Amino acid sequence: MQGFVFQSTKSMMVEPGCSARIGEVVKALGCVSVLMVSDPGVKRAGLLENGLAGLKAAGVAVTLFTDVEADPPVHVIDKAVAIAREANVDGVVAIGGGSSMDVAKLVALLAVGNERLDDIYGVGVAKGPRLPLVLAPTTAGTGSEVTPISIVTTGEGEKKGVVSPVILPDWAILDAELTLGLPPAVTAATGIDAMVHAIEAYTSKRLKNPLSDSLAREALRLLGGNIHTVCKDGQNLAARQNMLFGSMLAGMAFANAPVAAVHALAYPVGARFHVPHGLSNSLVLPQVLRFNAPAAEHLYAEIADILLPSANGSASHKTVALVEMLSALPEKLALPTRLRDVGIAAKDIEELASDAMNQTRLLMNNPREVTKEDARAIYEASL
Ligand SMILES: NC(=O)c1ccc[n+]([C@@H]2O[C@H](COP(=O)([O-])OP(=O)(O)OC[C@H]3O[C@@H](n4cnc5c(N)ncnc54)[C@H](O)[C@@H]3O)[C@@H](O)[C@H]2O)c1
Ligand SMILES: [Fe+2]
Repeated sequence: MQGFVFQSTKSMMVEPGCSARIGEVVKALGCVSVLMVSDPGVKRAGLLENGLAGLKAAGVAVTLFTDVEADPPVHVIDKAVAIAREANVDGVVAIGGGSSMDVAKLVALLAVGNERLDDIYGVGVAKGPRLPLVLAPTTAGTGSEVTPISIVTTGEGEKKGVVSPVILPDWAILDAELTLGLPPAVTAATGIDAMVHAIEAYTSKRLKNPLSDSLAREALRLLGGNIHTVCKDGQNLAARQNMLFGSMLAGMAFANAPVAAVHALAYPVGARFHVPHGLSNSLVLPQVLRFNAPAAEHLYAEIADILLPSANGSASHKTVALVEMLSALPEKLALPTRLRDVGIAAKDIEELASDAMNQTRLLMNNPREVTKEDARAIYEASL
């Protein structure tokens, strides 16, 4: 076996209703005053209430910041950091989707120490220290609760990542009750994001390893086996818990075997056209899989064995069946299927391809090298 390094969030709590216990977790970390990070939609849905009640019962003071915007821009992070410094908090909690969790990670880092956001983009640049950090996802999607990654949309409409083990959270709190009210379209898009994390981790060129492989396989079994159920019946708690657990496993996998061209090509779609992250992934996924097939067929065949056990024949037959199944998935889940459905036209492709080529951090993990010409062709085929 090839040697490898694996890192993850140290502690996790997985049980419906467990966000009520955030107070005891935070107190055990030694915090007396925390910033609670979230967004207006999550707050309106009443999802902060149990967590806030638990914090109150534990005697922990809370400063609220609920102005997170999806695909968080720099000004949101600056504002949250200023509020955290002003309140002199000693811990950061997020209840929300990937956007809220990513903001919380950077607040924990930038509210103490001397690092500046502009200086810490990239892999392994941020050094810390940071404040204690507890994250409770309300989407079964990003896996941010177990990744050392925070994604920021910069002024130039570019998505940049801060990637460093220092922002791996202390606790992941997986309370599926928080996801019961997630609308079907968000459930579908975030669920596909999680599936893409597992697929790209499983085919990652540089850092794929036996542990990330096991996690990705189990993630795909859970996500593929439950995504239709949760989109049809959002109140199915057991299926919601499976999705939330599956998305965390996929997060653990891709935190160590990083994602690649699907994400590299999806980011410009999200950043320039404000298409939700999971949907941007789903729009380019089929064409990236077709492009990668010559280099990754044997791995796609193994994924087909999990997602499509009825497929048989050669690796190439299984790969074709897998790509067809994943191409048909968005329509079955009532999501847009073409880039033109989200307002993207042929004239936009040059700019998207240029932006995608800047995602070198991701492209370097792709099983097949992607040139700008290839990126253009993938976008054209996805139009
Ligand atoms: N850090 C990582 O490892 C990582 C990985 C993948 C993606 N991301 C980033 O995460 C962000 C996307 O996160 P996301 O897909 O979770 O969405 P999100 O956090 O942007 O939320 C999307 C919308 O869903 C709403 N919402 C969330 N949970 C809800 C619930 N339970 N009930 C009702 N409404 C709810 C929110 O109010 C918001 O309007 C992007 O910025 C993406 O780049 C980060
Ligand atoms: Fe993602």
